[in-house]
Amino acid sequence: MRKIALFGGSFDPIHKGHIEIAKEAVKALCLDEVIFIPSGISPHKAGLTASNEDRYNMVCLALENEEKLSVSDFEIKKETKCYSFETVKEFKKLYPSCELYFIIGDDQYEKFTTWYKWEELLKMCRFVVFTRGGAEIKPPFTEIKIPPIGISSTEIREKIKNGEDVGAKVNEKVLSYIKEKGLYKESLSEIIKKLKGTLKESRFRHTLGVADTAVALAKHYGADTDKAYLAGLLHDSAKNFTDDELFALCDKYNIPLSEDDRKAPPIIHSYVGAAIAEVEYGIEDKEILDAIYYHTTGSEDMSLLSKIIFVSDMTEPGRKDFPGLSEIRRLMYEDIDKALVASMDATISYAKMKGSFLHPDTLKARNFILAKGKK
Ligand SMILES: [Fe+2]
Ligand SMILES: [Fe+2]
Repeated sequence: MRKIALFGGSFDPIHKGHIEIAKEAVKALCLDEVIFIPSGISPHKAGLTASNEDRYNMVCLALENEEKLSVSDFEIKKETKCYSFETVKEFKKLYPSCELYFIIGDDQYEKFTTWYKWEELLKMCRFVVFTRGGAEIKPPFTEIKIPPIGISSTEIREKIKNGEDVGAKVNEKVLSYIKEKGLYKESLSEIIKKLKGTLKESRFRHTLGVADTAVALAKHYGADTDKAYLAGLLHDSAKNFTDDELFALCDKYNIPLSEDDRKAPPIIHSYVGAAIAEVEYGIEDKEILDAIYYHTTGSEDMSLLSKIIFVSDMTEPGRKDFPGLSEIRRLMYEDIDKALVASMDATISYAKMKGSFLHPDTLKARNFILAKGKK
């Protein structure tokens, strides 16, 4: 008799631990097939969750090359809440001559007697409980122990939101899908809406121009386009404050200011911008925050992303012409370092023309690149 196990869950997202459980079940119970059944989730569920369609698609991708593992859209297609009882009934109808199993975790085992028609369910199929040790499983449930895998979908969603790497825990194709669709992230449209409300119209347009230019440069040089877009969007988020407000915000966010910083108040919007990106927009990625922090002065040993933001700020399509602009635009897709030096030269010329204080970090940054180029 064919043996089939049903494996329900939200799979939000599916990860390597789920696959491990299914394979372990195949081995331990000599199963012919494990059917993953993503549950339908209300679109209004709180927090960052993926849609029914996206979760289903991710399961499909993760199972692409897995023998004996398949997926069903039965619960996803249901418009109302679907009890496991209905699912099992359906699969008994679909596979009348098969022996049915149902895979659950030990957390579900604990709450089993709260399930809808649980006593009938127990007669309809055999329940298999996966434990990571600890819980005591009693008959008629079958226990299968698996080593602690240290993976949960919640943890994965949290890491993705914070821009952390989850490559070891999620199938490569699933990960590309998540990135492509921008799943589990604070939505960009929310950020843009908020910025639009705080920046002057012209500054907001400049911001979008910098973000787009940064993405184009990131693509060209193989940098992370998501980070480039975010850093571009947020680089001038503190630009509309007065000097006094900026100094007050430095106090509030504990931003240390050097003597040189105090002589160049227009620069301080970069430091405050990085703090705002972190505190108000929840950006934790150090590379993005650094790119914002150094977008006006530059610094020694800048990351590729910092260079991209610096040059994008200078060259975005809405920039009014200034001496050297066309040269920077010519250089930016040829050699980012040369474009960066040319951008800093323009900053220096501007300070000279205005008779204003030049921040020494700009000279340090420029010298650093030139010295590196000579090696
Ligand atoms: Fe700026
Ligand atoms: Fe800017």
